[in-house]
Amino acid sequence: MAQEISHLGARQNYDRLSRFYDSFSGGERSLSKTALELLALQPGENILEIGFGTGHALLEMAHAVGTRGRVEGIDLSPGMLAVASRRVLHSGLAGNISLQVGDATCLPFPEPRFQAAFMSFTLELFSTTEIPLVLAECRRVLVPGGRLGVVSLARKDTRMVSYYEWFHARYPRLIDCRPIHVHQVLEEACYIILQTLEKSLWGLPVEIVVAKKP
Ligand SMILES: C[S@@+](CC[C@H](N)C(=O)[O-])C[C@H]1O[C@@H](n2cnc3c(N)ncnc32)[C@H](O)[C@@H]1O
Repeated sequence: MAQEISHLGARQNYDRLSRFYDSFSGGERSLSKTALELLALQPGENILEIGFGTGHALLEMAHAVGTRGRVEGIDLSPGMLAVASRRVLHSGLAGNISLQVGDATCLPFPEPRFQAAFMSFTLELFSTTEIPLVLAECRRVLVPGGRLGVVSLARKDTRMVSYYEWFHARYPRLIDCRPIHVHQVLEEACYIILQTLEKSLWGLPVEIVVAKKP
């Protein structure tokens, strides 16, 4: 059962975490890297990352799409935006990457313009009622046939998942995300699943899924 924290609460949490987030998120980074390989970005594509955090994946994406492509990112937290912007500036890739503060439930793009979108350890932060909204927003801004790459804690019947959910229920600010049925939420939001990889993080199941907008 998802415990909801407000978007204001989430923003404050991630603002606080932004300065030292990199010191405990190495495992997540390597799973994001694997997911980006699966997403197979092509030179010249326009890509959106939602919840870019400290910005590591943005650089991988900018390399993959090259100078003809473009990477845009939105994140709820101004603290994360500041850390990611510094990383982008020092990478020399700033000309190809645009970042802004924004909310995934209401994407600031009026028309479909992305060949692919990416979310890593972000979709499972949203409440059960918001997940379909976020996925509908992604579908709205993807071009027909556009791909969506998701890396997420996956809800399976394991003891570790039960422990984790117990902590999430009691300390939702500290343990803000929780495992979800990744395939199910994507299919309910009318995506076609293309590929899935099963991995784990701290003993918890993780799914990397690439799906497409019909
Ligand atoms: C668990 S972190 C993951 C960061 C990064 N994707 C990674 O894999 O390291 C979740 C990110 O989602 C952002 N976020 C939380 N709620 C959001 C929302 N409503 N809209 C956009 N971003 C959000 C947070 O600020 C944070 O940067």
